[in-house]
Amino acid sequence: MNSETQTHWNRVYTTKATDAVSWYQVQPKISLELIAAAKLPLHAPIIDVGGGASLLVDCLLAQDRSALSVLDISASALAGARARLGAGAAKVGWIEADVREFAPAQRYDLWHDRAVFHFLTDPADRAAYMAALRRGLNPRGHVVVATFALDGPPRCSGLDVAHYDAASLHGQFGDDFALLDARRETHITPNGSEQAFTWVRLRLR
Ligand SMILES: C[S@@+](CC[C@H](N)C(=O)[O-])C[C@H]1O[C@@H](n2cnc3c(N)ncnc32)[C@H](O)[C@@H]1O
Repeated sequence: MNSETQTHWNRVYTTKATDAVSWYQVQPKISLELIAAAKLPLHAPIIDVGGGASLLVDCLLAQDRSALSVLDISASALAGARARLGAGAAKVGWIEADVREFAPAQRYDLWHDRAVFHFLTDPADRAAYMAALRRGLNPRGHVVVATFALDGPPRCSGLDVAHYDAASLHGQFGDDFALLDARRETHITPNGSEQAFTWVRLRLR
């Protein structure tokens, strides 16, 4: 695993409250809408890639979804989410991994990524991410991904990020994926500043 990246994220999650980080949301509204739009059965395997301490897994568990996984490079983030969920944590697969090296033990019907892909500014890292996605996604699988928009902040968590509109984000995934939905969101951070996000929902053809 890339230890510099892991050290960065473990430091973030051990020094900041989970509701104080810029990407914190009380309600992952667009994630839930776009996941619902995929119309998957409750037993469909779903993975939140770079899920960190997001409340998305809590919301999906509350829907009685039974095949949820959360992957993150930060063990501290995953530990925080597990502690928050208590007994519910046992119903989730927790994967400490760098997505660029992820060797999935199963395939998923939906791959969710909010604000992780945009950290991959090196084309080789994006290629590694796409290879992991291909290893982990079922045929006709769905992808829900959000990045900073073209007019989003230059950096996130002190790291450079790449910026996308819906067309360029779809372009990263390629023509094997159909673009089914695109959204623009203005996320309000806990300190009140605005961040423009691009969301797409894709499906493997
Ligand atoms: C900006 S946060 C977003 C967290 C979460 N998706 C959310 O919306 O609240 C980025 C997350 O990606 C994780 N991350 C960053 N690089 C990663 C990588 N290469 N592999 C796996 N996780 C990574 C971080 O630890 C962090 O939890």
